[in-house]
Amino acid sequence: KKLRKAVIAGNWKMNKTPEEAKKLVGAILPLAKDAGCEVVVCVPYVDLFPVLEAAKGSSVGVGAQNCHWAPSGAFTGEVSAPMLASMGVQYVIIGHSERRTYFGETDLTVNRRIRAALDGGLSAILCVGESLEQREQGITSELVAMQTKIALGGVSAEELKRIIIAYEPIWAIGTGKTATAEQANEVCATIRATVASLYGSSAADALTIQYGGSMNAKNAAELLAQPDVDGGLIGGASLKPDDFAQIIKAAG
Ligand code: G3P
Repeated sequence: KKLRKAVIAGNWKMNKTPEEAKKLVGAILPLAKDAGCEVVVCVPYVDLFPVLEAAKGSSVGVGAQNCHWAPSGAFTGEVSAPMLASMGVQYVIIGHSERRTYFGETDLTVNRRIRAALDGGLSAILCVGESLEQREQGITSELVAMQTKIALGGVSAEELKRIIIAYEPIWAIGTGKTATAEQANEVCATIRATVASLYGSSAADALTIQYGGSMNAKNAAELLAQPDVDGGLIGGASLKPDDFAQIIKAAG
């Protein structure tokens, strides 16, 4: 029924040592085998090497959780897109609300990192979403449209094919409070309309838009059944293979 193949991505956040990561990805590989969706794991930098090794030859995509906006240089503690790409990393999360909240990420730095990810040959999972306060003010649509527009500044239609957008309402992240399926679909549709205004409707129709925020084994099916929700970006539940398995099934 859907135009787009769903993408289910795990965001492990700051969890798992390299040893633990090897184990966890080992449990995820068989889930992806006959999946009707694309499966991606976005892991801490130090886990990339073992996870890439384990995922070699499988259908599981591997991503990082951030990259710097410069290809190299004097940026102590940072990692660049070309470094990630050279390892075989395919995806990178950009603009997660935790980075915006705790690490001073702004719409402008998100845009620079999106540019760097694309220039480095990566696909980007761009995160947008409103806080509870912003939702209560009734500015969710405007805010998310603005975040989307600024983040995509200077991105060509050809490059847009390497972008996934994840709608993550901040109030739903790690709180156990999920957006209703209608709320999720409404904002994902707003994002698609925004992209359509920039790139035309066929580009917007081809874009994968995920929902993220307390997606779990129980609520995944209803969220993923929404016409504008093309997958999920999953935090907590992506660390539990049984739960992640059910989400993957719900997407297939
Ligand atoms: O990026 C995924 C995310 O922020 C959602 O986290 O734990 O609510 O699924 P969680």
